[in-house]
Amino acid sequence: MFVPWSLTGDNHENMSWHDEYAGSHGFDEYDKTAGGIKRNMHNGNPYSNFVALQVTINYEEMSVQKTVKIVTTHVLYEMKLKGEKISMLTAYDYSMARILDEAGIDVILVGDSASNVMAGYDTTLPITLDNMIYHAASVVRGVKRALVVVDLPFGTYQGNSREALASAIRIMKETGASAVKLEGGREIVESIERIMSAGIPVMGHLGLTPQSIHKFGTYVVRARDEEEARKLKEDAKIIEKAGCFAIVLEKIPAALAGEVAESVRVPVIGIGAGRQVDGQVLVLHDMLGINMEFSPRFLRRYHNLYDEIKGAVNHYITDVRSGEFPSEKEQY
Ligand code: KIV
Repeated sequence: MFVPWSLTGDNHENMSWHDEYAGSHGFDEYDKTAGGIKRNMHNGNPYSNFVALQVTINYEEMSVQKTVKIVTTHVLYEMKLKGEKISMLTAYDYSMARILDEAGIDVILVGDSASNVMAGYDTTLPITLDNMIYHAASVVRGVKRALVVVDLPFGTYQGNSREALASAIRIMKETGASAVKLEGGREIVESIERIMSAGIPVMGHLGLTPQSIHKFGTYVVRARDEEEARKLKEDAKIIEKAGCFAIVLEKIPAALAGEVAESVRVPVIGIGAGRQVDGQVLVLHDMLGINMEFSPRFLRRYHNLYDEIKGAVNHYITDVRSGEFPSEKEQY
């Protein structure tokens, strides 16, 4: 039987490693290890933090060959160059992450929106580094292909670049994720640079930055006025120069987001930032209609899981109460 994305167990015997990028991008050799993938860093260009891998699995007995292209920061950069749009969604647990990965999502963000949709807080501020590590490690266990990026939570990086590095190192060591995300521009540049110096890829986040909600006082569209728009454009350049491999732009005018995406070489992923960017991200619970309390204009709901799940649970309760469940076939 053909097992898609499977890199474990007996398949190791039949695995060969194909370094598609090695020639053109100057990669070192790839290592084949019994435990999985060893990623070698590339030092030849300004994007030295970008890593690309392609794995070819030969299912010799079955005469089937399946190529699994693992998404890396470098792959995202190449996608921007080729004009291919990047798809990104949040996830916070193993089961959902597995579904997203098998569906072919490019990037999974373990967002601090877990504070809202998983823990029920009003803001993203209360979630802790330990909470984020728990969510991220669960997600990573469900993912074989997508790039997993983890939010550094509020209070673990602002104003202290050494603490930022320590937080990022904990995320990388304890979760197995591939990158971290930080909110902010020039004010966190030292933290970005210090994290980068340890070889940890950083995704930036500008525009509406929910960790600063008490400063903004509201979740309305950001950077509508000239002054804030100018600062945002400058910030994008500053964090790109500091080494960010991609930038999330949240809830800003589409034309401004398009200008930013044109002005930087790294991919720009929008949420409520229009279509002139390099990719899109949504919060999973919002787009699946699990969380129905949040309905901004930019949100497209692809399902109404709230009603579907509630309907199934109602059905179950009715069956239990009536004695309809379990049937004779469902007992030993
Ligand atoms: O925490 C989160 O889910 C995010 C996205 C909204 C980009 O940062």
